[in-house]
Amino acid sequence: MDTSGTPLTRLAILISGRGSNCMAIIRAVRDGRLPNCEVAVVVSNIPGAPGIEAARALGVPVVVLEGRGREQRDHEDAILTLLRKFRIDLVCLAGYMRVLSAVFVREWAGKLVNIHPSLLPSFPGLHAQRKALDYGATVTGCTVHFVDESVDGGIIILQRVIEILPEDTEATLSTRLLDEEHVAYVEAIGRVLSGEYEGVGRRYLPRAVARS
Ligand code: GRF
Repeated sequence: MDTSGTPLTRLAILISGRGSNCMAIIRAVRDGRLPNCEVAVVVSNIPGAPGIEAARALGVPVVVLEGRGREQRDHEDAILTLLRKFRIDLVCLAGYMRVLSAVFVREWAGKLVNIHPSLLPSFPGLHAQRKALDYGATVTGCTVHFVDESVDGGIIILQRVIEILPEDTEATLSTRLLDEEHVAYVEAIGRVLSGEYEGVGRRYLPRAVARS
């Protein structure tokens, strides 16, 4: 509950690795940049992922549901059960490296978001930073989007752009981009939770504009 007695929006963050976006979201909630919500649980499909300890150190409950060696259906059922148990309102994928099935995505349609390290629809899939460099793009960025049944093709919530510098390597570009990701993800969640935006076709627009 917040101070007015309104229930807080409950977030789940799904991770597979480092968890820097997860930490950025937890910190934003903690310091009030994402008001009226809480990170109710972090879920990792990889035991030993560095993000697990980082989230625990901030006092957030973490559940490890290992995916390896398990049928996708069975693994996702376990996640869905957990999301219900924790009464989750919004699921944030943050470096979650397993593609979710259509069944999962449909159940969470409009309440499932992801961050991708390119300006979609350019460079979907893995190694987006390397693809942007190899292509010779002079700008790239990150995209926070709703998840649908396509790979990295759901409605865009917001994007941030950075320049690709002549001296950039995949490592330097990825590092600079990550700083933008942390800002973008927090801002995008804020937009979704604000209730002030809505989808019009593929566009995610402020309600005032969408209805004018
Ligand atoms: C980020 O680059 C994100 O865009 C991509 O996976 C990476 C996860 O990094 N989906 P982290 O685990 O949040 O540090």
